[in-house]
Order: sequence, then C-alpha cells, then structure tokens
Amino acid sequence: MSAAASGSSPGSPPGPPPNIVILTGAGVSAESGLSTFRDPDGIWQQVRIEDVATPEAFARDPARVHAFYNARRAQLPAAQPNAAHHALARLEREWPGAFLLVTQNVDDLHDRAGSHPLHMHGELRRVRCLACGARHGWDADLLTTTPCPACAAASLRPDIVWFGEMPMGMDRIGAALDGCGLFVSVGTSGNVYPAAGFVQEAAHAHTVELNLEPSAGSSLFRETHHGPATQVVPAFVERLLAEWTGAGGGGA
Ligand code: OAD
Repeated sequence: MSAAASGSSPGSPPGPPPNIVILTGAGVSAESGLSTFRDPDGIWQQVRIEDVATPEAFARDPARVHAFYNARRAQLPAAQPNAAHHALARLEREWPGAFLLVTQNVDDLHDRAGSHPLHMHGELRRVRCLACGARHGWDADLLTTTPCPACAAASLRPDIVWFGEMPMGMDRIGAALDGCGLFVSVGTSGNVYPAAGFVQEAAHAHTVELNLEPSAGSSLFRETHHGPATQVVPAFVERLLAEWTGAGGGGA
C-alpha cells in the first residue's frame, strides 16, 4: 500500500497505519515442502475431495479419512517455516495497527514462525470429539478406535473443516475485514469460498495479491505481485514496514 493509495500527498506523513487482514493459502507453505491442492502435483490430483474431505466421506469410511490426515500430520515435523512465514510473523510483531492473519492452511508453520493465525479450515494438530465436543492437541495417528482423552468414546475426528461445513472464526474475520484498510492475499488460488470472497468484502480497502501466478480472482485486487512466496512476501513486508514505521532493513 503506498501513501498515495491511502490519500496522502507526497512527502506528508502517511497518517495512522491501516488495520491489516492477511489471508494465506497452501502456496505460502509450498517452499517448505508441503503440497498445494490444485497445482499439477497438488493433493487434489492424487485423491478425490469426495473420498477424504467431506462429512459424508467420514461417515462412509472413517479409516480412509484418518489415513489421509494421519499422513499429512506426519509430514509436519520435517517441514520448517520459510521466509514468507517469518516475514508475516515479523509484520504481526512490528505492525502498529490492528492485525489479523487468517490462514486456510491446516499446517502449523505460521504458528511455529511466531504468528497467531486464525485457522479458518482447522488444524492438523488438533482433534475433536463428536461425543463430548472436547478439542485436544494431537500429534499421533488417529484410528477409529482411539478413545477421547476426555470422555473415552471412540468418536474423535480431525479438527478440520470439510467441504460443506462452516469455516471457523467467520464472525471475527468479517469484523476484521469490515474494519481493515489493507487486505493481502498470499498463496491461494481463490477457488474456495468463503475465503475467495474476502477480497470483495474488503473492497473498501487497498487489496494486494501475492502469489506465484495470477489467481482466479486476480483482477479483483488493486495491486498484484507474482513470484515465489519466499521472495515476494518478505519484499512486501519490508516495504510496508519501511513506509509506515520507518523500520526497514530488518531480519525475520
Ligand atoms: P490451492 O492449491 O488451490 O492454491 C495454491 C496457490 O498457491 C496457487 O494459486 C499457486 O499458484 C500458488 N503457489 C504455489 N506455489 C507457490 C509459491 N511457492 N509461492 C506463492 N504461491 C504459490 O490452495 P489454496 O488456495 O490454499 O481446503 O486452497 C484453498 C483450500 O482448498 C484449502 O484450504 C483446502 C483446499 O481444498 C479444505 O481442505 C477445506
């Protein structure tokens, strides 16, 4: 977001910093070795959504669904946050206005970089009990026979939002979008709603897309930068902090 975009004249102070909402998708974790969904080698090229990522799939074949998420959970320890995750954590630490990072990602790389993301599609490292409603942090494999640590029922499911279910935190996200002056979308193809519609909900704000290539909704953004997240995200964060706080040249 440039000072011109916020209405200041050249040379004048940029005014109060805008409230920021950042939305991330699988592209931000691609360079950490985690597959995206819709790229040519993506997850949805290997398995069908209807077999592993719907409530109906879980009702039909819970063991299959558990195996899919167990395999993805098992990949996490070997994956490390990359320069894009670190740059977004730095922005959250140093930004003088309100800041909300919303991620569609169920990995924990933002969290391990030091961010406090709202995981709108849930988290691989959490499970929830369909019998008692308790949520638990979870690093092991989940089986159909695994008892809930709270109530002992064998009714645990991944704490993941499946197709046909309501994403998490929508009230908080809606309020943040209403009040933001800058919306930035990072590494998402713009195919899955409601996240794909956030750019339109934030149409009153300056909107920026940072993605490897133009997304499905690229033309809806006022500013776009295309390239690998580990390059475009740190460069964007650096420019934003330099412009609004004078803090350039920082490390992650
Ligand atoms: P997609 O796989 O649909 O899109 C990933 C985007 O990241 C694409 O636009 C790629 O061009 C871009 N990309 C790939 N590598 C990149 C890199 N190194 N740097 C920057 N961008 C890169 O993934 P999402 O948009 O996150 O939901 O998918 C949204 C949701 O669909 C997921 O949360 C998941 C999936 O089905 C559920 O499972 C409910």
